[in-house]
Amino acid sequence: MNGFIEGETIVVTGGASGIGAATATLAARLGLRVVVWDLAQVPGGSIVDVRDPDAVAAGFAAAGPVRYLVNNAGPASGGPALAFTDGLTATAGSVEAVTSAWLATGPPDGSAVVNVASVAGNLVGTDSAWYSAGKAAIAGYTRHLATRIAPRIRANAVAPGFIDTPRMAGFADTPLGRALVERNPMRRAGRPEDVAAAVLFLLSPAAAYVNGVLLPVDGGWVVTQ
Ligand SMILES: NC(=O)c1ccc[n+]([C@@H]2O[C@H](COP(=O)([O-])OP(=O)(O)OC[C@H]3O[C@@H](n4cnc5c(N)ncnc54)[C@H](O)[C@@H]3O)[C@@H](O)[C@H]2O)c1
Repeated sequence: MNGFIEGETIVVTGGASGIGAATATLAARLGLRVVVWDLAQVPGGSIVDVRDPDAVAAGFAAAGPVRYLVNNAGPASGGPALAFTDGLTATAGSVEAVTSAWLATGPPDGSAVVNVASVAGNLVGTDSAWYSAGKAAIAGYTRHLATRIAPRIRANAVAPGFIDTPRMAGFADTPLGRALVERNPMRRAGRPEDVAAAVLFLLSPAAAYVNGVLLPVDGGWVVTQ
């Protein structure tokens, strides 16, 4: 499906849970060789903290030629409080560092990267200053990439809305969570698989002329009045 060549390698950061895990599962179903990086060990994965350049370099050395990259790992907006620049570095700096390390390996023609931003980067303000700013930075960095590494390599991003992942456990039952679902044109939270399908499309040869987009995967939250 989507024109993938069987056995090509994809790295999914933060692939042990939520959106990353769904992306890894779908990629495997589509015939790709999946390498998951996460803070925790999972079958078929490695412990790679995307904030650690040595770990990232070792990860690429171990992975062999990587055609597809999904920069999905990042700190939660509701997680431990971070200073603004520390949050930006963990959110957007890690995406730049992993992507630069990948580009230095010389990915083959037809490679592609998808970065996971958020509606918090283009639509919604959150309690966390660095989260919204970091996700907006990822979108800007994606546009930079799209103009600098094409035509050999494409770069796109997704902006998930409210996706029911372990990170968001219980949120759907809070007053805010219920209100968001009620206002959403699709009348439900997103599923990790909804985002995974968009990520795999953007990576795939079927999206050969799609470059530099920020694709909302939010059920229409962006266009809700
Ligand atoms: N769930 C949502 O509603 C939502 C909305 C918009 C954007 N996002 C974004 O989607 C991505 C995935 O979120 P999720 O909801 O699936 O979260 P999740 O917590 O279910 O999964 C995130 C995974 O990333 C890993 N991770 C975190 N920091 C890491 C690091 N430094 N190095 C390697 N791995 C790391 C975690 O261990 C975890 O397995 C994040 O970038 C998040 O900001 C999520």
